[in-house]
Amino acid sequence: MNNSASGLHVPVMLQEAIHGLKVETGGRYVDCTVGAAGHSTAILNASSPGGQLLGFEADPQAVAIARERLEAFGSSALIVNRNFAGLEEECLERGFFPLNGVLFDLGLSSMQLAESGRGFSFQYDAPLDMRFSPDQELSVEEIVNSYKESDIASIIYRYGEEPASRRIAAAIVNNRPLHTTVQLADIIARAVGGKKGRIHPATRTFQAFRIAVNRELENLESALYQALNLLGCGGRLVVISYHSLEDRIVKRFFREESRNCICLPGSPVCTCSHRASIKQVNRKVITPSPEEIRQNPRSRSARMRIAERVIARQESSLNSAGLFFVSLTGCLAGVAGCMSLN
Ligand SMILES: C[S@@+](CC[C@H](N)C(=O)[O-])C[C@H]1O[C@@H](n2cnc3c(N)ncnc32)[C@H](O)[C@@H]1O
Repeated sequence: MNNSASGLHVPVMLQEAIHGLKVETGGRYVDCTVGAAGHSTAILNASSPGGQLLGFEADPQAVAIARERLEAFGSSALIVNRNFAGLEEECLERGFFPLNGVLFDLGLSSMQLAESGRGFSFQYDAPLDMRFSPDQELSVEEIVNSYKESDIASIIYRYGEEPASRRIAAAIVNNRPLHTTVQLADIIARAVGGKKGRIHPATRTFQAFRIAVNRELENLESALYQALNLLGCGGRLVVISYHSLEDRIVKRFFREESRNCICLPGSPVCTCSHRASIKQVNRKVITPSPEEIRQNPRSRSARMRIAERVIARQESSLNSAGLFFVSLTGCLAGVAGCMSLN
């Protein structure tokens, strides 16, 4: 039985990710979003013998599935039930660096969307939760029932890019208390006027609440810098994002970190002393093939970006103890090759 038939998540752009990570035998890899371990399995297979994988997964249910699926790899695979916001701390504590590759396959798995009790989808009636991990305090129920109308509107606008954010926020506040996904989706559909569009009128608002509850954008931005600190020279960073807010963060990060100067355009002299620490491997974003989209329609919004670590030329760009260790322990052998890229 294949993954989609078994209800398991089907990994998106699998071959592209393995190729993008330049997976090598004996390499040391981090999968920041293990999910059902589709990408993790492929990384371990491609890096065998001797490859090692440390996986992060916030959702304990996904962790249980992933650990079972990766059992055959024994001590080569370690999955921690932790948010990737703790990437650098976990790797430094475990001495798991420098890394050959770091993968982010952002967002939700099909299992989470299909699980009726989690509140991620308005297709199933469920409590307004949407937390990746039960250890997190904030849930959607708290936002809709206790936040000020203006704060709700601002979440819907910022994280959902929803033009009717104020109307939706007013409808939510006027219909409090709200407890279930179907209740919330109905109120949104009525507030927006129930126009027949390409997407359900509640789609953007549900996305916005999920992003807010899980601090998805803040965690992504922080983890990208942490990944940079952990990658050895020539190590690869591969990010698959699923909506424009995520992709914008990745794109800006890749652009800035691959430049030797980030002073404002037109500045007469450089005062930033910023040095490129990555080079972009693909200038143009990579998207799934029409065949993949046909087989797995959930892949259609995926966008992949790939970067390669190059050592910063100046000591001043060492921005944390982590990078200092990595530079000392991992990059020295490759310094000459990497420096010539700057
Ligand atoms: C798209 S799925 C990954 C699927 C996986 N690549 C596979 O092949 O099965 C994203 C997973 O990342 C997890 N996740 C999202 N944000 C996270 C974060 N900040 N820290 C840890 N896990 C996260 C979600 O719980 C979900 O299981």
